[in-house]
Amino acid sequence: MAKSADKAVSAAGFDPWLSSQRLFPPYVWSEVFGRTAPLELDLGAGDGVYVEARARREPERDFIAVERLLGRATKIAKKARRGDLTNLRVLRLESGYFLGNLCPPGTVDVVTLRYPDPWPKRRHHGNRILTREFAVAAIRACRTGGRLQLTTDDREYFGWACQEVDGCPDWKMDPRWAGTEEPSSEFEEKFKREGRAVYRRAWVKSN
Ligand SMILES: C[S@@+](CC[C@H](N)C(=O)[O-])C[C@H]1O[C@@H](n2cnc3c(N)ncnc32)[C@H](O)[C@@H]1O
Repeated sequence: MAKSADKAVSAAGFDPWLSSQRLFPPYVWSEVFGRTAPLELDLGAGDGVYVEARARREPERDFIAVERLLGRATKIAKKARRGDLTNLRVLRLESGYFLGNLCPPGTVDVVTLRYPDPWPKRRHHGNRILTREFAVAAIRACRTGGRLQLTTDDREYFGWACQEVDGCPDWKMDPRWAGTEEPSSEFEEKFKREGRAVYRRAWVKSN
């Protein structure tokens, strides 16, 4: 269980949770990529169809794909290796932990969430990636002018996620972003075949 989900202490004020923030120091992106370039995160990247296309199309930018399932993360790594995409790295980890603890503050240009699992049942909402806590962590990780971009097929989830982000005053909705220049992804293709609607929104970090 994530520490944030259980804030209780004992009667004597004892908290049994050890902080996982001590596990790893944050990354130094210039060491990871051997250069300084705009940095984008694809969180819950699936099998990496989208992030591979972006990395191929935009060699002047760096990309990190974060995916918690080993099989999918491995597929992304294979794509990066086969394409010799030195501007793409993959990490198998929980996205919120990565964003909140391993990204140095003010270093990220774009955080992308494409078709995050909507977890429609109320009792499962705690599993959703894009919470208020996540939005705050994204503010911290992004540079001023940095962006958070959400694409989903689930209308209820979209409304809920927008409220979570809009609760952070430093995120300002960007009405100019339509997301239509973006390459597709595995789930986008699946939902297109099923004729599902697409909901997109971006926010800009205002200060
Ligand atoms: C519905 S799929 C979308 C995949 C991809 N973005 C696409 O558009 O095809 C959601 C992905 O997010 C991953 N995922 C869900 N929660 C995650 C989390 N907290 N951290 C990292 N990955 C997560 C899942 O394993 C899954 O691969």
